Amino acid sequence: MGTETIKVWDILIRVFHWSLVIFFIIAYVTGDELDTVHAWAGYIIIGLLAVRVVWGIVGTRYARFSNFIYSPQKIIAYLKSLFTGRPEHYPGHNPAGGGMVVVMLVFLILSSWSGLKAYEAEGKGPLASAEISLISPAQADSWYEEEHEHGKGRNKSDEFWEDVHEVFVNFTLLLVFIHIGGVLVSSILHRENLVRAMITGRKEKPDSPE
Ligand code: HEM
Ligand code: HEM
Repeated sequence: MGTETIKVWDILIRVFHWSLVIFFIIAYVTGDELDTVHAWAGYIIIGLLAVRVVWGIVGTRYARFSNFIYSPQKIIAYLKSLFTGRPEHYPGHNPAGGGMVVVMLVFLILSSWSGLKAYEAEGKGPLASAEISLISPAQADSWYEEEHEHGKGRNKSDEFWEDVHEVFVNFTLLLVFIHIGGVLVSSILHRENLVRAMITGRKEKPDSPE
């Protein structure tokens, strides 16, 4: 492996990543006791995600979705190559990592959206004053009644969205743990420090550029 380095992660990706880490942790630990800090951490995450999605279309080479969305065959071939002692090397996200990035972004969006709906059910936040609603509070009430035959007479759409939010958020947390595990495993297998690369933006140049 050469010692030359190339710039992979631009400044926007790096600021996005470490801000997301910070605000995800803040949102997670403030979730149980809803206060404005939780809602604001959530709004900041929504802003970060919006910027990241646009950057995935118009951004620099390794930031674009087209650079790291691979076919299932490619993902399997990459995962197999991990066991051969000579794993395929990619300067940007590897096929498995790229797939994981997309899944994480989707679940972060679902987490934030369900958070907004839970907030709406309490009569707060931007959706509470929105004219149109993708799933109305009445619809959520009836789903909650179907699930829990003996409704406790509480605000059902509130309970419904809190449950949905909790499921999405905890699934996202599971993905994050797998993500960190994947980063550590591929750092070891490729003998390169991926965490440092996400700070400096630079990775070692692969022997045979694709
Ligand atoms: C301290 C723990 C974490 C470490 C060490 C870490 C490390 C990394 C690294 C090294 C990459 C680049 C992977 C590659 O080289 O292909 C990455 C990408 C990414 N990570 Fe993390 N991560 C952490 C926590 C998180 C958390 C908490 C989230 C989400 C809530 C997250 C979401 C992402 C996303 C979305 C990307 C893709 C970046 C992009 O292309 O925009 N990470 N992470
Ligand atoms: C990815 C971003 C987010 C994360 C990680 C997150 C995390 C959490 C967690 C861990 C809980 C506690 C769930 C439980 O155990 O009951 C929670 C509850 C809640 N979250 Fe979020 N959240 C996020 C975004 C949002 C957003 C954008 C909003 C809306 C402004 C929001 C509104 C709420 C509400 C209303 C609750 C219920 C609080 C209660 O118990 O009364 N969340 N969130």
